[in-house]
Order: sequence, then C-alpha cells, then structure tokens
Amino acid sequence: MNDQKCKVDYEQFIPRETGFIFKFEKKDNTFIHTFIEGKLLGKMGLCPELIEGKTLFEFLPAEHALRKAAFYEKAWNGEHVNYEGSIGGIHYLAVLNPVLQNGVTVEVIGTSIDITKEKTREKQVQQMEKLSVVGELAAGIAHEIRNPLTSLKGFTKIIKESVSDQTLLPYLDIMLDEMDRINEIVNEFMFIAKPSEHVNFQQTNFNKLLQECIHFMAPQANLKSIEIELNSDSEVFLNCDRKQMKQVLINLLQNSIEATEDNGHFIEVRLEEMGTDSVSVTIIDKGCGIEDSRFNRLFEPFYSTKEKGTGLGLITCKRIIDLHQGRIDIKSKLGEGTTIRICLPRSLDGKS
Ligand SMILES: Nc1ncnc2c1ncn2[C@@H]1O[C@H](COP(=O)(O)OP(=O)(O)OP(=O)(O)O)[C@@H](O)[C@H]1O
Ligand SMILES: [Mg+2]
Repeated sequence: MNDQKCKVDYEQFIPRETGFIFKFEKKDNTFIHTFIEGKLLGKMGLCPELIEGKTLFEFLPAEHALRKAAFYEKAWNGEHVNYEGSIGGIHYLAVLNPVLQNGVTVEVIGTSIDITKEKTREKQVQQMEKLSVVGELAAGIAHEIRNPLTSLKGFTKIIKESVSDQTLLPYLDIMLDEMDRINEIVNEFMFIAKPSEHVNFQQTNFNKLLQECIHFMAPQANLKSIEIELNSDSEVFLNCDRKQMKQVLINLLQNSIEATEDNGHFIEVRLEEMGTDSVSVTIIDKGCGIEDSRFNRLFEPFYSTKEKGTGLGLITCKRIIDLHQGRIDIKSKLGEGTTIRICLPRSLDGKS
C-alpha cells in the first residue's frame, strides 16, 4: 500500500545526514520496529539490522526501553508525541506521528534529528550563567569575608604570642593556616569573577616563561621523583599577561604532578609554533587519567576529585585562556595519562 509513498514523502523533508526515520507497529501487545533508516544511526553505533523486526528491549537497556515504550504507547493511542533521547553520546529529538485508518492506528512513523550541538551550546550557556552568578556572588561576599577575616587573623596572632599554655600552640597554627586558605579561596574566587581587571599584556619570551614555571614546580615534582621536560624547536614570543599565564601553567603542572604516581615518570611540556599566527603549549602526563563520564564537569567551579582540591584550578585556566583569545583542549585516557593543549594567538585582536 502506501509504504513506499510514506518513505518517499519523508525522504524529502528529513535531513538524512543528521537524522533517521523509523516505523513501528503494535503486535501481540508489543511494539515491533518495521523500518529504520538514516545516517545518524551509524554515529549512534546502531544499524537497521539491529532494530528492524525487534522490540525496544532487544537493542536498548531496559531502563531506556521502558521510558521509550511509554512514548510509543501514547503515539499508538493517537497522540503526536515529542521526546528527547541520547544514545552513544548523540542527543536527538524524536517526533512520533500515528497513522490512522478508519480511526484506528495501524502504524507510527517516527522522525529523529540530531540536536547534539544545540545541547552542547545549551550546556555552555548554563555554564556561563553559573559563572556569572558565581562572579556576582564572589564580588558581593568577598569583601564581607575579608574584613572579619583580617580581624580574626590579627587577634589569633596576638593570642599565639601571649598564650601561656604551650599545648594550644599547634591549634593556633592550624587556625592561622586555615585562615590563609580561606583568604586564598576568596582571592581566587574574585579573580575568576573578573580576570580582565588589572590585566597587563606584554610581549613575552614564552620559552623563558615556561622555564620559570617548570623551575618553580621542580621541588614539588622532585618529591615524587618526577622530571618535567621542556621541548621546543624555536624561540617563541607572545603577547600575554605574564602573571596570569604563569598561573595557568602552574595550575596545569600542579594537576599533572598530582595525577602522576610516585614512580619516576616524567611530564613533558611541548612548545610549538602553529603557522605564523599562533602557538601551542602541550602538557603531557602519564598519570591516572580522567574517566569519560567526568569530562563534562572538569571546568565547573568547585568540581574536584581530590580530598584537598578546591576545584578552581581548571576554571581559572579557562578564564585566562579565554581572555587571551585562546583555546584549551583536554584529552585523557583512564589509567594512561592526560594531554592538555593550549593554543594561543601571537597577538590579540585590538591588543597587538
Ligand atoms: N592532569 C590531570 N590528570 C588527571 N586528572 C586531572 C588532571 N587535571 C585535572 N584533573 C581532574 O580535574 C579535576 C579538576 O581540576 P582542578 O585543577 O580544576 O581542581 P583541583 O586540582 O581538584 O583543585 P585545585 O583548585 O586545588 O586546583 C581534578 O580534581 C581532577 O579530577
Ligand atoms: Mg588543580
């Protein structure tokens, strides 16, 4: 009958490159897929042979299949249904249209389109919103925290100098250390809110800057018998804020050292020219690596897997790199190591 017709009609307005079409019927109270086609299937790690003639439960985890069966049921009852799903890292939007004959559903035609990009953008916007909320909060409360903190620290020092019970001294030292830590967090927080304040772009010898950072981190690396090796073919000059760029490199080296086991591995820092306009710095460690499921959260403020981590290191790096109109990419394999690459333009729009 009109099987062929439906197929032709849908082919005209479904972007096959970015979607797929499918049909199902209800037989013996079970939904069976009768047709499926579209390039997106491959990207999801599926193929028509896996789906045609099969129920949802035969190719999806039970939990997903149950959720989808509820949408299928609604469509079978005559409703036009929209839902979002994700398989194999691809997000899609599906629309189910029941086909009626004499008022009875005979089949349902579904169309799906790839909305992965939109989802990623939505996440980025949420991230930005979160950051601007964090920023406003930071600016608002930092001052409030700093003032009482200054008095607390001053009085604690006075007590420490005049206390007669010597057993109290270690507690007072801990109090002072913790106050320093609060102060550090507040400062970092304020920086993330407004990295562009006090920024100072200067023509910089980047090899030298990298050497200085490696030198600064060497004692910490030595404690774990880790060597930091710098490789670069040429002398690279770059327009950047030296202090901020040092902070980026130190944060990244610190993470690599923390991720690397105490076993004499080395961390490689590679400085490369990328054409005439930009340069890249790559930091490669053979540390614990990062699980795929944690990737999306790395740049979230306060996301940390470390007992004493604040979770502000990477987000600070990202804010600084953004300010320098650069990019930061992370590749990692659990148990094998992590490669972090920063690409920076040699001169900035409006600041060259
Ligand atoms: N080189 C790396 N190898 C493995 N995991 C890493 C690496 N770099 C970052 N991570 C993961 O990303 C998380 C966030 O890093 P980030 O630097 O933002 O915070 P942190 O290191 O936990 O705390 P801190 O604020 O003290 O830097 C870490 O807790 C860790 O799980
Ligand atoms: Mg860190």
